[in-house]
Amino acid sequence: MPLIKGSNKQRSICDNQGRKTRLHGMIVLVLFAGVIFMNHRQVLVGLEHPNTTQLLEVNKSEKCLSLATEKNPATNREQPDPTDKRKCLIQTQRSPYMDIVCKSVLGFPRFGSCGGKSCSSPKPYAPVERNYGNDWPPTGFTMIGNERLENFRSAIEEVNRNKIPGAIVEMGVWRGGAMIMAAAAQKEFKESGGTMDRHLFLFDAFEEIPKTSYGKHHDFLFNSQQDIVDAFESFGLNDSNVHYKKGLFEHTVQELRTDALLTQIAVYRIDGNFYDSYQDALYYGYEKVPVGGIVIFDDVMSHHSVMRTWKDFKEDQGLTEDLNQIDQHSAWFRKETKIRVEMTKMKPPQDINSAK
Ligand SMILES: C[S@@+](CC[C@H](N)C(=O)[O-])C[C@H]1O[C@@H](n2cnc3c(N)ncnc32)[C@H](O)[C@@H]1O
Repeated sequence: MPLIKGSNKQRSICDNQGRKTRLHGMIVLVLFAGVIFMNHRQVLVGLEHPNTTQLLEVNKSEKCLSLATEKNPATNREQPDPTDKRKCLIQTQRSPYMDIVCKSVLGFPRFGSCGGKSCSSPKPYAPVERNYGNDWPPTGFTMIGNERLENFRSAIEEVNRNKIPGAIVEMGVWRGGAMIMAAAAQKEFKESGGTMDRHLFLFDAFEEIPKTSYGKHHDFLFNSQQDIVDAFESFGLNDSNVHYKKGLFEHTVQELRTDALLTQIAVYRIDGNFYDSYQDALYYGYEKVPVGGIVIFDDVMSHHSVMRTWKDFKEDQGLTEDLNQIDQHSAWFRKETKIRVEMTKMKPPQDINSAK
Protein backbone atom coordinates (compact mmCIF):
# COMPACT_ATOMS: atom_id res chain seq x y z
CA MET A 1 0.00 0.00 0.00
CA PRO A 2 1.46 3.39 -1.02
CA LEU A 3 2.37 5.66 1.88
CA ILE A 4 1.69 8.76 -0.20
CA LYS A 5 -1.77 8.89 -1.55
CA GLY A 6 -2.47 10.83 -4.74
CA SER A 7 -3.75 10.83 -8.28
CA ASN A 8 -1.80 9.34 -11.18
CA LYS A 9 -1.12 12.90 -12.42
CA GLN A 10 0.26 13.90 -9.00
CA ARG A 11 2.39 10.74 -8.92
CA SER A 12 3.80 11.48 -12.37
CA ILE A 13 4.71 15.07 -11.28
CA CYS A 14 6.48 13.59 -8.23
CA ASP A 15 8.26 11.04 -10.44
CA ASN A 16 9.33 13.83 -12.84
CA GLN A 17 10.69 15.91 -9.97
CA GLY A 18 12.52 12.89 -8.61
CA ARG A 19 14.02 12.22 -12.03
CA LYS A 20 15.09 15.89 -12.31
CA THR A 21 16.72 15.77 -8.86
CA ARG A 22 18.51 12.54 -9.75
CA LEU A 23 19.60 14.10 -13.08
CA HIS A 24 20.98 17.19 -11.31
CA GLY A 25 22.74 14.94 -8.84
CA MET A 26 24.33 12.99 -11.69
CA ILE A 27 25.39 16.17 -13.51
CA VAL A 28 27.02 17.50 -10.34
CA LEU A 29 28.71 14.12 -9.84
CA VAL A 30 30.00 14.05 -13.44
CA LEU A 31 31.29 17.64 -13.18
CA PHE A 32 32.96 16.85 -9.85
CA ALA A 33 34.57 13.71 -11.30
CA GLY A 34 35.67 15.77 -14.32
CA VAL A 35 37.40 18.34 -12.14
CA ILE A 36 39.14 15.60 -10.14
CA PHE A 37 40.21 13.89 -13.40
CA MET A 38 41.55 17.12 -14.93
CA ASN A 39 43.51 17.95 -11.81
CA HIS A 40 44.88 14.45 -11.65
CA ARG A 41 45.77 14.57 -15.33
CA GLN A 42 47.57 17.89 -14.85
CA VAL A 43 49.66 16.36 -12.08
CA LEU A 44 50.52 13.42 -14.31
CA VAL A 45 51.40 15.70 -17.23
CA GLY A 46 53.38 17.83 -14.82
CA LEU A 47 55.43 14.82 -13.82
CA GLU A 48 56.42 14.18 -17.40
CA HIS A 49 56.99 17.81 -18.44
CA PRO A 50 56.69 20.61 -15.88
CA ASN A 51 53.86 22.91 -16.99
CA THR A 52 54.41 26.66 -17.17
CA THR A 53 52.85 27.34 -13.80
CA GLN A 54 55.18 24.83 -12.24
CA LEU A 55 58.21 26.31 -14.00
CA LEU A 56 57.17 29.87 -13.21
CA GLU A 57 55.97 29.56 -9.67
CA VAL A 58 58.46 26.92 -8.54
CA ASN A 59 57.63 25.39 -5.22
CA LYS A 60 56.38 27.74 -2.61
CA SER A 61 59.09 26.87 -0.08
CA GLU A 62 61.31 29.15 -2.15
CA LYS A 63 65.02 28.83 -1.54
CA CYS A 64 67.64 31.14 -3.03
CA LEU A 65 70.91 30.21 -4.66
CA SER A 66 73.61 30.62 -2.04
CA LEU A 67 76.22 33.36 -2.41
CA ALA A 68 79.95 33.30 -1.75
CA THR A 69 81.11 35.55 1.07
CA GLU A 70 84.88 35.19 0.78
CA LYS A 71 87.66 33.93 -1.45
CA ASN A 72 86.95 30.27 -0.73
CA PRO A 73 83.46 29.81 -2.15
CA ALA A 74 83.23 26.17 -1.10
CA THR A 75 83.33 26.90 2.62
CA ASN A 76 82.10 30.46 2.99
CA ARG A 77 78.59 30.87 1.71
CA GLU A 78 75.50 32.79 2.75
CA GLN A 79 71.88 31.83 2.21
CA PRO A 80 69.94 34.96 1.17
CA ASP A 81 66.42 35.58 2.40
CA PRO A 82 63.87 34.83 -0.37
CA THR A 83 62.26 38.25 0.17
CA ASP A 84 65.57 40.03 -0.47
CA LYS A 85 65.27 40.81 -4.19
CA ARG A 86 68.73 42.35 -4.27
CA LYS A 87 70.36 39.06 -3.34
CA CYS A 88 67.97 36.25 -4.10
CA LEU A 89 67.66 34.24 -7.28
CA ILE A 90 65.25 31.37 -6.72
CA GLN A 91 66.84 27.95 -6.91
CA THR A 92 64.87 25.32 -8.82
CA GLN A 93 65.58 21.71 -9.53
CA ARG A 94 66.84 20.87 -12.99
CA SER A 95 64.55 18.78 -15.15
CA PRO A 96 66.13 15.55 -16.44
CA TYR A 97 66.63 17.24 -19.85
CA MET A 98 68.29 20.28 -18.31
CA ASP A 99 70.48 18.07 -16.15
CA ILE A 100 71.80 16.24 -19.20
CA VAL A 101 72.45 19.52 -21.03
CA CYS A 102 74.28 21.03 -18.04
CA LYS A 103 76.41 17.94 -17.46
CA SER A 104 77.27 17.75 -21.14
CA VAL A 105 78.36 21.38 -21.46
CA LEU A 106 80.41 21.14 -18.26
CA GLY A 107 82.49 18.31 -19.77
CA PHE A 108 83.20 14.67 -19.09
CA PRO A 109 85.23 13.89 -15.95
CA ARG A 110 87.11 11.05 -17.64
CA PHE A 111 89.07 13.55 -19.78
CA GLY A 112 90.50 15.32 -16.73
CA SER A 113 91.08 19.00 -16.16
CA CYS A 114 93.25 21.60 -17.87
CA GLY A 115 93.95 23.61 -14.76
CA GLY A 116 94.15 26.92 -16.56
CA LYS A 117 97.16 25.89 -18.68
CA SER A 118 97.39 24.56 -22.20
CA CYS A 119 95.51 21.30 -22.47
CA SER A 120 98.26 19.05 -23.85
CA SER A 121 98.63 17.09 -20.58
CA PRO A 122 95.45 17.37 -18.51
CA LYS A 123 95.48 16.82 -14.75
CA PRO A 124 93.05 14.44 -13.05
CA TYR A 125 89.47 15.67 -12.87
CA ALA A 126 88.70 17.62 -9.69
CA PRO A 127 84.94 17.92 -9.00
CA VAL A 128 85.25 20.95 -6.70
CA GLU A 129 87.33 22.84 -9.26
CA ARG A 130 84.78 22.12 -11.98
CA ASN A 131 81.93 23.10 -9.70
CA TYR A 132 83.47 26.55 -9.12
CA GLY A 133 84.93 26.90 -12.62
CA ASN A 134 88.55 27.09 -11.47
CA ASP A 135 89.70 24.71 -14.20
CA TRP A 136 89.25 24.42 -17.93
CA PRO A 137 87.44 21.36 -19.27
CA PRO A 138 89.22 19.54 -22.13
CA THR A 139 85.95 18.36 -23.66
CA GLY A 140 83.29 20.64 -22.18
CA PHE A 141 81.61 23.55 -23.93
CA THR A 142 81.81 25.98 -21.02
CA MET A 143 84.55 26.82 -18.57
CA ILE A 144 82.27 28.62 -16.13
CA GLY A 145 81.57 25.70 -13.77
CA ASN A 146 78.38 24.42 -12.26
CA GLU A 147 77.69 27.25 -9.76
CA ARG A 148 77.84 29.94 -12.41
CA LEU A 149 75.83 27.81 -14.83
CA GLU A 150 73.13 27.51 -12.14
CA ASN A 151 73.29 31.26 -11.55
CA PHE A 152 72.74 31.86 -15.27
CA ARG A 153 69.89 29.32 -15.42
CA SER A 154 68.21 30.90 -12.38
CA ALA A 155 68.60 34.38 -13.89
CA ILE A 156 66.81 33.20 -17.05
CA GLU A 157 64.03 31.61 -15.00
CA GLU A 158 63.76 34.79 -12.92
CA VAL A 159 63.22 37.08 -15.92
CA ASN A 160 60.72 34.61 -17.36
CA ARG A 161 58.86 34.47 -14.04
CA ASN A 162 58.84 38.27 -13.76
CA LYS A 163 58.06 38.79 -17.46
CA ILE A 164 61.09 41.05 -17.94
CA PRO A 165 61.31 41.68 -21.70
CA GLY A 166 64.44 41.30 -23.77
CA ALA A 167 67.10 39.04 -25.21
CA ILE A 168 69.66 36.87 -23.50
CA VAL A 169 73.11 38.17 -24.39
CA GLU A 170 76.54 36.79 -23.63
CA MET A 171 79.63 38.85 -24.40
CA GLY A 172 82.47 36.31 -24.69
CA VAL A 173 81.22 32.77 -25.35
CA TRP A 174 84.35 30.58 -25.83
CA ARG A 175 82.87 27.21 -26.97
CA GLY A 176 79.31 28.45 -26.41
CA GLY A 177 78.32 26.13 -23.55
CA ALA A 178 76.68 28.71 -21.26
CA MET A 179 74.52 29.93 -24.14
CA ILE A 180 73.72 26.34 -25.14
CA MET A 181 72.27 25.95 -21.64
CA ALA A 182 70.39 29.25 -22.10
CA ALA A 183 68.91 28.00 -25.38
CA ALA A 184 67.89 24.76 -23.69
CA ALA A 185 66.27 26.70 -20.84
CA GLN A 186 64.25 28.76 -23.33
CA LYS A 187 63.27 25.69 -25.33
CA GLU A 188 62.05 24.01 -22.15
CA PHE A 189 60.21 27.17 -21.07
CA LYS A 190 58.40 27.49 -24.38
CA GLU A 191 57.58 23.80 -24.68
CA SER A 192 55.91 23.97 -21.29
CA GLY A 193 53.66 26.84 -22.45
CA GLY A 194 55.86 29.89 -21.77
CA THR A 195 55.02 32.72 -24.12
CA MET A 196 58.10 34.97 -24.03
CA ASP A 197 60.04 34.45 -27.23
CA ARG A 198 63.60 35.52 -26.53
CA HIS A 199 66.46 36.01 -28.93
CA LEU A 200 69.91 34.80 -27.95
CA PHE A 201 72.95 36.85 -28.96
CA LEU A 202 76.50 35.49 -28.83
CA PHE A 203 79.22 38.13 -29.14
CA ASP A 204 82.80 36.95 -29.54
CA ALA A 205 85.92 37.77 -31.50
CA PHE A 206 86.13 34.09 -32.40
CA GLU A 207 89.32 33.88 -34.46
CA GLU A 208 89.92 37.63 -34.45
CA ILE A 209 91.25 37.88 -30.89
CA PRO A 210 94.73 39.54 -30.89
CA LYS A 211 97.40 36.88 -30.27
CA THR A 212 99.11 38.83 -27.52
CA SER A 213 95.97 39.30 -25.40
CA TYR A 214 95.80 35.78 -24.02
CA GLY A 215 99.53 34.98 -24.31
CA LYS A 216 100.21 31.25 -23.99
CA HIS A 217 96.49 30.53 -23.45
CA HIS A 218 95.63 31.78 -26.93
CA ASP A 219 95.31 28.39 -28.62
CA PHE A 220 93.03 26.96 -25.96
CA LEU A 221 90.81 30.05 -26.02
CA PHE A 222 90.64 30.23 -29.79
CA ASN A 223 87.37 29.06 -31.37
CA SER A 224 85.92 29.74 -34.78
CA GLN A 225 82.31 30.78 -35.19
CA GLN A 226 81.72 27.48 -37.01
CA ASP A 227 82.87 25.57 -33.90
CA ILE A 228 80.08 27.22 -31.91
CA VAL A 229 77.47 26.75 -34.65
CA ASP A 230 78.43 23.05 -34.72
CA ALA A 231 78.10 22.82 -30.94
CA PHE A 232 74.60 24.33 -31.04
CA GLU A 233 73.73 21.96 -33.90
CA SER A 234 74.87 18.93 -31.94
CA PHE A 235 72.46 19.86 -29.13
CA GLY A 236 69.66 20.50 -31.66
CA LEU A 237 69.44 24.12 -30.53
CA ASN A 238 70.69 26.14 -33.50
CA ASP A 239 67.43 27.80 -34.50
CA SER A 240 66.57 31.21 -35.93
CA ASN A 241 66.51 32.78 -32.45
CA VAL A 242 70.27 32.26 -32.06
CA HIS A 243 72.43 35.09 -33.44
CA TYR A 244 76.22 35.25 -33.73
CA LYS A 245 78.09 38.56 -33.62
CA LYS A 246 81.65 38.00 -34.71
CA GLY A 247 84.49 40.43 -34.09
CA LEU A 248 86.14 42.40 -31.32
CA PHE A 249 83.56 44.05 -29.08
CA GLU A 250 84.91 47.46 -29.97
CA HIS A 251 83.67 46.79 -33.51
CA THR A 252 80.46 44.88 -32.75
CA VAL A 253 78.94 46.63 -29.71
CA GLN A 254 77.28 49.20 -31.98
CA GLU A 255 74.97 46.35 -32.98
CA LEU A 256 73.63 46.29 -29.42
CA ARG A 257 72.01 49.57 -30.43
CA THR A 258 71.29 49.00 -34.09
CA ASP A 259 70.08 45.38 -34.37
CA ALA A 260 66.30 45.57 -34.63
CA LEU A 261 65.90 42.29 -32.73
CA LEU A 262 67.94 43.58 -29.81
CA THR A 263 65.60 46.14 -28.34
CA GLN A 264 66.19 45.09 -24.73
CA ILE A 265 68.41 42.70 -22.77
CA ALA A 266 66.76 40.69 -20.00
CA VAL A 267 69.89 38.78 -18.97
CA TYR A 268 73.26 40.34 -19.77
CA ARG A 269 76.20 38.00 -19.13
CA ILE A 270 79.58 39.59 -19.68
CA ASP A 271 82.59 37.26 -19.81
CA GLY A 272 85.30 39.19 -21.60
CA ASN A 273 88.33 39.08 -19.25
CA PHE A 274 89.65 42.59 -20.03
CA TYR A 275 89.03 46.20 -18.97
CA ASP A 276 88.20 47.27 -22.52
CA SER A 277 85.92 44.29 -23.17
CA TYR A 278 83.81 45.07 -20.11
CA GLN A 279 83.85 48.77 -20.78
CA ASP A 280 82.58 48.28 -24.36
CA ALA A 281 79.89 45.88 -23.15
CA LEU A 282 78.71 48.19 -20.35
CA TYR A 283 78.77 51.47 -22.25
CA TYR A 284 76.84 50.09 -25.21
CA GLY A 285 74.64 47.46 -23.59
CA TYR A 286 73.76 48.61 -20.07
CA GLU A 287 71.00 50.99 -21.12
CA LYS A 288 69.31 48.10 -22.93
CA VAL A 289 68.78 46.21 -19.66
CA PRO A 290 65.35 47.08 -18.23
CA VAL A 291 64.86 47.50 -14.50
CA GLY A 292 64.49 43.97 -13.13
CA GLY A 293 66.92 42.56 -15.72
CA ILE A 294 69.91 40.58 -14.48
CA VAL A 295 73.55 41.54 -15.13
CA ILE A 296 76.29 38.95 -14.61
CA PHE A 297 80.04 39.65 -14.60
CA ASP A 298 82.08 36.51 -15.01
CA ASP A 299 85.56 37.72 -14.10
CA VAL A 300 84.95 40.61 -11.75
CA MET A 301 86.06 39.03 -8.47
CA SER A 302 89.31 37.53 -9.81
CA HIS A 303 90.45 39.99 -12.51
CA HIS A 304 91.54 43.31 -11.03
CA SER A 305 91.16 45.10 -14.35
CA VAL A 306 87.54 43.96 -14.62
CA MET A 307 86.77 45.07 -11.06
CA ARG A 308 88.27 48.43 -12.04
CA THR A 309 85.90 48.69 -15.02
CA TRP A 310 82.93 47.98 -12.76
CA LYS A 311 84.04 50.51 -10.13
CA ASP A 312 84.71 53.18 -12.75
CA PHE A 313 81.38 52.57 -14.47
CA LYS A 314 79.41 52.49 -11.24
CA GLU A 315 80.94 55.73 -10.01
CA ASP A 316 80.89 57.59 -13.33
CA GLN A 317 77.29 56.64 -14.08
CA GLY A 318 76.01 56.91 -10.50
CA LEU A 319 74.71 53.33 -10.18
CA THR A 320 73.11 52.11 -6.95
CA GLU A 321 73.48 48.36 -7.53
CA ASP A 322 75.89 46.19 -5.53
CA LEU A 323 77.53 42.93 -6.59
CA ASN A 324 76.46 39.53 -5.26
CA GLN A 325 79.40 37.14 -5.30
CA ILE A 326 78.72 33.75 -6.90
CA ASP A 327 82.14 32.17 -6.51
CA GLN A 328 85.80 33.16 -6.54
CA HIS A 329 85.45 34.77 -9.97
CA SER A 330 81.95 36.02 -10.58
CA ALA A 331 79.10 38.20 -9.39
CA TRP A 332 75.62 39.34 -10.43
CA PHE A 333 73.07 42.03 -9.64
CA ARG A 334 69.50 42.93 -10.52
CA LYS A 335 69.17 46.28 -12.26
CA GLU A 336 67.19 48.63 -10.04
CA THR A 337 67.55 52.06 -11.61
CA LYS A 338 67.08 53.22 -15.16
CA ILE A 339 69.94 55.46 -16.25
CA ARG A 340 71.13 57.21 -19.39
CA VAL A 341 74.74 56.18 -19.94
CA GLU A 342 77.04 59.21 -20.13
CA MET A 343 79.32 58.20 -23.04
CA THR A 344 81.86 61.00 -22.46
CA LYS A 345 83.03 59.18 -19.30
CA MET A 346 84.42 56.26 -21.30
CA LYS A 347 88.13 55.67 -20.61
CA PRO A 348 90.79 55.37 -23.35
CA PRO A 349 91.82 51.79 -24.40
CA GLN A 350 93.75 50.01 -21.65
CA ASP A 351 94.39 46.44 -22.78
CA ILE A 352 92.76 44.36 -25.53
CA ASN A 353 91.69 47.33 -27.65
CA SER A 354 95.30 48.51 -27.91
CA ALA A 355 96.82 45.01 -28.26
CA LYS A 356 98.20 43.78 -31.59
C1 LIG B 1 86.57 33.31 -20.66
S1 LIG B 1 86.06 33.10 -22.27
C2 LIG B 1 84.31 32.98 -22.16
C3 LIG B 1 83.83 31.73 -21.49
C4 LIG B 1 82.41 31.37 -21.82
N1 LIG B 1 81.48 32.36 -21.38
C5 LIG B 1 82.01 30.02 -21.33
O1 LIG B 1 80.83 29.81 -21.06
O2 LIG B 1 82.88 29.14 -21.24
C6 LIG B 1 86.27 34.72 -22.90
C7 LIG B 1 85.82 34.88 -24.36
O3 LIG B 1 85.70 36.26 -24.57
C8 LIG B 1 86.15 36.57 -25.85
N2 LIG B 1 86.57 37.99 -25.77
C9 LIG B 1 87.24 38.60 -24.79
N3 LIG B 1 87.39 39.91 -25.05
C10 LIG B 1 86.81 40.13 -26.24
C11 LIG B 1 86.64 41.29 -27.05
N4 LIG B 1 87.11 42.49 -26.68
N5 LIG B 1 85.99 41.16 -28.19
C12 LIG B 1 85.50 39.96 -28.58
N6 LIG B 1 85.63 38.82 -27.87
C13 LIG B 1 86.28 38.91 -26.70
C14 LIG B 1 87.25 35.58 -26.13
O4 LIG B 1 87.39 35.34 -27.51
C15 LIG B 1 86.76 34.34 -25.36
O5 LIG B 1 86.08 33.46 -26.23
